Amino acid sequence: MRVPVAFAAIVGISAVAADQVSLGPSAFTAPGIFPTSLFSSYYNDPTQTASQVQPVITDGVLESTYPLDLTDPDTISNNDTVDPHYYPTVHLKGETAQKLYDNVTAEIEGIITAQGTSNCTKCIQGLTSASRLAKEAPQLIPQLLTTLCNRYSFASRAGCNVYDENAQGPFYAQVLAYADVSGYDGQYLCQNFIRQSQCSRPPLPKFDASQFWTKPKPTDAKPPVPKGTDRVKVLHMSDFHVDPRYATGSEANCNSGLCCRRGNPVASLPEGFTPSVPAPRFGYFRCDTPWALGAAAVQAIPVLTGTEGYDQFNMTIFTALYDLWKETLNPTSPLYAAIGNHDSYQQAFDSPNTLHGKLKKEFSWNYDHLAKLWQKEGWIDHHAAGLARKHYGAYSIQHAPTLKIITLNTDLWYRANIFAYINSTQSDNFGFLKFLADELQQCEDSGSRAYVVGHVLSGWDGTNPLPGPTDIFYQIVDRYSHVIAGLFWGHTHEDQNMIYYANNGTNISAETAQNVGWIAPSITPLTNLNSGFRLYEVDAETWDILDAHTWYSNVSTFAELDSQIDVGATYSYEYNTRQAYGGKITWPENAPLNATWWHKVTEQMGSDNGALVNLYNAHQGKQTTVGAKCTSAACIDAKICYMRSGSGPLALQNCPKGFGSVQGG
Ligand SMILES: *[C@@H]1O[C@H](CO)[C@@H](O)[C@H](O)[C@H]1NC(C)=O
Ligand SMILES: *[C@@H]1O[C@H](CO)[C@@H](O)[C@H](O)[C@H]1NC(C)=O
Ligand SMILES: *[C@@H]1O[C@H](CO)[C@@H](O)[C@H](O)[C@H]1NC(C)=O
Ligand SMILES: *[C@@H]1O[C@H](CO)[C@@H](O)[C@H](O)[C@H]1NC(C)=O
Ligand SMILES: *[C@@H]1O[C@H](CO)[C@@H](O)[C@H](O)[C@H]1NC(C)=O
Ligand SMILES: *[C@@H]1O[C@H](CO)[C@@H](O)[C@H](O)[C@H]1NC(C)=O
Ligand SMILES: *[C@@H]1O[C@H](CO)[C@@H](O)[C@H](O)[C@H]1NC(C)=O
Ligand SMILES: *[C@@H]1O[C@H](CO)[C@@H](O)[C@H](O)[C@H]1NC(C)=O
Ligand SMILES: *[C@@H]1O[C@H](CO)[C@@H](O)[C@H](O)[C@H]1NC(C)=O
Repeated sequence: MRVPVAFAAIVGISAVAADQVSLGPSAFTAPGIFPTSLFSSYYNDPTQTASQVQPVITDGVLESTYPLDLTDPDTISNNDTVDPHYYPTVHLKGETAQKLYDNVTAEIEGIITAQGTSNCTKCIQGLTSASRLAKEAPQLIPQLLTTLCNRYSFASRAGCNVYDENAQGPFYAQVLAYADVSGYDGQYLCQNFIRQSQCSRPPLPKFDASQFWTKPKPTDAKPPVPKGTDRVKVLHMSDFHVDPRYATGSEANCNSGLCCRRGNPVASLPEGFTPSVPAPRFGYFRCDTPWALGAAAVQAIPVLTGTEGYDQFNMTIFTALYDLWKETLNPTSPLYAAIGNHDSYQQAFDSPNTLHGKLKKEFSWNYDHLAKLWQKEGWIDHHAAGLARKHYGAYSIQHAPTLKIITLNTDLWYRANIFAYINSTQSDNFGFLKFLADELQQCEDSGSRAYVVGHVLSGWDGTNPLPGPTDIFYQIVDRYSHVIAGLFWGHTHEDQNMIYYANNGTNISAETAQNVGWIAPSITPLTNLNSGFRLYEVDAETWDILDAHTWYSNVSTFAELDSQIDVGATYSYEYNTRQAYGGKITWPENAPLNATWWHKVTEQMGSDNGALVNLYNAHQGKQTTVGAKCTSAACIDAKICYMRSGSGPLALQNCPKGFGSVQGG
C-alpha cells in the first residue's frame, strides 16, 4: 500500500539540484503519528505513541498470522524450542556416551590447566578432544560446551547460553564432528573465535579461479562507454533491522548487547526502574530500528527521491532484509534482495550442501520459504525462485536485455558463519563462487552486463569476510570486469566504497582500476550511526552508475520528538557523490563514477592533508555526532588503503588495522 501523501508533512521547498533526474524536496518530515495505512490491522492502537505499533503480520506462503506473542516486545521468545535441531549421527547413547563425556571433560580440563603449552596448542588440542565426543555422542556437545564455558568463564552466564541445545549447541556439534579440528580448520576456528588462543591466521589457501572458466578474458575486453544522457533511478537500501522487541521508554544506554529492549539490563525489569536514557520513539544509537523509524524511512524515500508519481525507481536493491516495503516503495518495478546474516536462524549460520543426510538440507527451510515469498510477492519469477532454492537463497534474473542481476548469499563467507570452517582449505566448499562465475560467463556470451549484489562485503578493512573465498571472488571480478557494471553490498551499516583492480591489485593505479563496490548506509542507527539510504542515477543502456545521492536522518534529534506528536523523524539530503569528491577531478559531465574516477578520488585523498578523508569519514557515519573522527596520518592512510582493498587478503596484508569503522565513537 502506498503511503497517502496527505499524511506526509513535507518541509523544505527547494528541490535539490540534479542535472538530469528530478529529485524531491531537500527534506521530509514524517507525521508524528504512525501511518496506520501501512498495515491492515494492529494488535494495539497504532495511533497511540506510548509504545511501538504491533502490526498484525501475515505470512502469505504459510498462510498464517504471526500471533500476538511474536509481535509484543515483552513476550517474543529468545530461542527455538519448537523446531527440530539436527546433530551428526549418534553412535553412542546412555551410559557409554556418558563415559566418553566424562573422559573428554577430564581430558580438556587437563589440557586447559597444563603448564608449558601455548594457548594456541591448548585450543587445538581442546577442539580435537571435543571432536571425539562430537563424532560418537554429539547430543552431549551442548552440555559440554555450556559447562566448560561457565567453569572457565569463556563468556558471561548469559553468553554461555549460546551453546544451549535449543540455541547453537547442535551446530557446534556438527562443526566439531566434520571440521579438521586438529589441523587447518582448528587453527582457523581458534584464531577467529577464541581470542585467548592467540593462534595466528593460517596461510591463505591457494586457489586458481581460472578452473571456473573455459575461455580466458577476451583480449579486447572493454566495458561499453555510456552516453550518460538517458538515466534511470535505482534505490539501494540496506540493513533495515526492524526490532519487534523495541520497547519505547526502556533503557537505551545499556552496557551490552542490543539496547532499547525490556529486560536489558535485567535490573530494568522491576517496576519503578528509571532508565539513564529512555528509548526514544524513533530510535537510538545503540538500538535497532523501531517501527516508527522504519515507517518514517519508507514514507520519506518516495518523496525525497522524486519517485512518487510516474517517475518510479527502475529497481530497488536490498542488501539484506526482505520485507513488506516493496508496495510502498516501488509498486511497479522490481525489488532484488540479497539475504543477510540476520535473515536466518541461528543468525549468520548457513551450512554447505556437502554435508550428508538430513544435515544436507538443514537450512533449506529458509531458502525455500524466502524463494516462495519473493515469488508470491512478485519480486522474482519462477525460474529465479528455483535458483534461490538451489543456491542458498541466491539467484540471477535478467532485469533488462542488457542487464542481469546476480545476487549472492555472502553470509557464506562471513567470519561468524561457523560452517565456513569446515574444509576451509577449499575456499569454494559451498560452490557459490562457481555459480557466480558461470552466471558471468553467460553474460559475457550474451553481451549482457551484470550487477553483483550481496550482503557481507568482500573487502574494505578485511574484518568481515573470510580471506579464502574473497581471494577467489577478486579473481572472478578481474576476469569479468568488463561485464560487471556494479557491485552492491551492505552489512557494515556504513557508507563506504571499494575499488577492484586488475591482477589482484599488484599494481594499483588509475589504469588498473576496473570495478567499484558500493556499500549502502543502513536504515538502522546501530551502532552510533545516523539512518540513511541511497539513490543512483544509472545509464539506461550500459547500467553504469553516473551519480549518487544519499539522505540521512539525525538520530541525535529523536529524543526531542517524544514530547509532542505533531512531527516525526526528518530525512534530509546528505550529499551528491560527484560533487562531494570530484571537485578537483577533470571528468566529463556524463562520464560514469567508475573505478578510474574513484581511484582518482583516493589520489586526491592522499594529497590534501586529510580534508577529503575527513569528509568521507563523516559520510561513513551519515553525519553522526557520536562517531569516530579520522584525522591522524595513520587513519588517513588506512582509509585510502581500505578503499583500494576489494578482498580480505589485500586489506589484511596491506592496510593498517583498526580504522575501518566509525562506530567506536
Ligand atoms: C580417556 O580414555 C582413554 C582411552 O580409554 C584413556 O587412555 C585416557 O586416559 C582417558 N583419559 C582420561 C582423562 O580419563
Ligand atoms: C529459552 O526460552 C525460554 C522461554 O522464553 C527460557 O525460559 C529459557 O531460559 C531460554 N533459554 C535460553 C538458552 O535462552
Ligand atoms: C592464555 O589463556 C589464559 C586463560 O584464558 C589467559 O589467562 C592468558 O592471558 C592467555 N595467554 C595469552 C598470551 O593470551
Ligand atoms: C528500466 O530501464 C530499462 C532501460 O531503460 C527499461 O527498458 C525498463 O522498462 C525499465 N524498467 C522499469 C520497471 O522501469
Ligand atoms: C570436505 O572435502 C572432502 C574432499 O573434497 C569432501 O569429500 C567432503 O565431503 C567435504 N566435507 C564437507 C563436510 O564438506
Ligand atoms: C603499473 O601500471 C602503470 C600503468 O599501467 C605502469 O605505468 C607501471 O609501469 C606499472 N608498474 C609496474 C610495476 O608494473
Ligand atoms: C571510466 O570512464 C572514463 C571516462 O569515460 C573512461 O576513460 C575510463 O576508461 C573508464 N574506466 C573504466 C575502468 O571503465
Ligand atoms: C544533529 O542534531 C544534533 C542535536 O540537535 C546537532 O547538534 C547536530 O548538529 C545535528 N547534525 C546535523 C548533521 O545536522
Ligand atoms: C592476492 O593478493 C593477496 C595479498 O597480497 C595474496 O595474499 C593472495 O595470495 C593473492 N591471490 C592470488 C590469487 O594471487
